[in-house]
Amino acid sequence: MSEEKVMAAKAKEHIQGTIGEVMITEEEIEAKAREIGKKITEDFAGEEVVLVGILRGAVVWMTELMKNIDLDVKIDFMACSSYGASTKTSGVVKINKDLDSDIEDKNVIIVEDIVDSGLTLEYLKEYLGNRGPKCVKVCALLDKPSGRKVDIEADYYGFTVGDQFIVGYGLDYNQSYRQLPYITVLTSE
Ligand code: IMP
Ligand code: MG
Repeated sequence: MSEEKVMAAKAKEHIQGTIGEVMITEEEIEAKAREIGKKITEDFAGEEVVLVGILRGAVVWMTELMKNIDLDVKIDFMACSSYGASTKTSGVVKINKDLDSDIEDKNVIIVEDIVDSGLTLEYLKEYLGNRGPKCVKVCALLDKPSGRKVDIEADYYGFTVGDQFIVGYGLDYNQSYRQLPYITVLTSE
């Protein structure tokens, strides 16, 4: 390999990091989506639900989940990010894209990729709760309990993970690896 190519590969590795073995397979995630989809279908029997996907990490999980909910399902999206490191502990989240639809009197289910500190979720639940929805529930693909800073839990979880940085199935490291059809970990930055 030419020196230039080696440099390019190294640069890419620096940006993308390296990843480990498959931790949760596509089949396991699909089975979990069927299980949770069935549970949501039963919990909201005969009602309409609005799935609010949190961009961008929740996109893959929400797509799989919604196929398994046998109700009148509407979808919408929000994008948010934490305000700088100094305000992070306050749980103040910046909304980069708000909902396009009205959620008054609606059954809202926030769909997240992972609950880590819980700060995003705490903020979003209150933010959406102020718009008069019938209820605000949360469905997260992953739970990382070791990262929790606030006492908040999702109503539906797919899997529990340890104190590791997770990528794949929508979750990214520097925007890479979202397309992996399985869950794995970042092994080096
Ligand atoms: P929070 O700390 O619970 O507010 O998590 C906020 C967001 O951080 C999540 O929605 C994810 O997008 C991201 N995040 C937290 N942990 C991980 C991880 O292990 N891998 C990738 N993204 C993560
Ligand atoms: Mg996120």
